[in-house]
Amino acid sequence: LHEARQAAPPATPLAALRQQASACTRCPLHCHATQTVFGEGPEAADLMFVGEQPGDREDLAGRPFVGPAGQLFDRTLGEVGIDRGRAYVTNAVKHFKFEPRGKRRIHRTPNAGEVERCRWWLEQEIEAVKPRLVVAMGATALGALTGRKQRLGDVRGRLLPFGGGRSLFVTVHPSYLLRIPDPVRAAGEMTQFRNDLATIASKT
Ligand code: URA
Repeated sequence: LHEARQAAPPATPLAALRQQASACTRCPLHCHATQTVFGEGPEAADLMFVGEQPGDREDLAGRPFVGPAGQLFDRTLGEVGIDRGRAYVTNAVKHFKFEPRGKRRIHRTPNAGEVERCRWWLEQEIEAVKPRLVVAMGATALGALTGRKQRLGDVRGRLLPFGGGRSLFVTVHPSYLLRIPDPVRAAGEMTQFRNDLATIASKT
């Protein structure tokens, strides 16, 4: 007789969440994406970064920020002395939204409804990790975290109260930096992003 084999229960609340999220059908984005890309990092990280949604590379790898934007993010973290391994890194939306074009999959911005449906996971991640500082990278993350439409430029670059003794810090999304065609402007924006991350490094 064989004993019924059961998968071991998840070891932590975050592991349980990750497992639940892997089967998420809260919005239609799961239909075409390869897999859920849940956040990753230490369960008790003090610092949490929130992006928009996984891109093509993240969708295939099942990990956040591993493509071109992730490489820029990693490099800049290194320049300001933040070890990514001590941060929890996640996205506002956990499935890749795209439009097929030939062999390529072109990123499409998630709509308000998709962000709203996925907010549930983000809130659970914050609840489980309990970071002291949450960093919104870009307008989608800002909207998901605050539930409000605000101009990024109005709130960028300083600590804002976020409830529960937590702070929110707002900066641009690294993908935005990769899309600036004018090299002089791109360099200026890059410097500002690096300064933002340096401010975060000094606060954590
Ligand atoms: N852009 C994001 O917002 N998140 C990722 O994980 C990758 C690219």
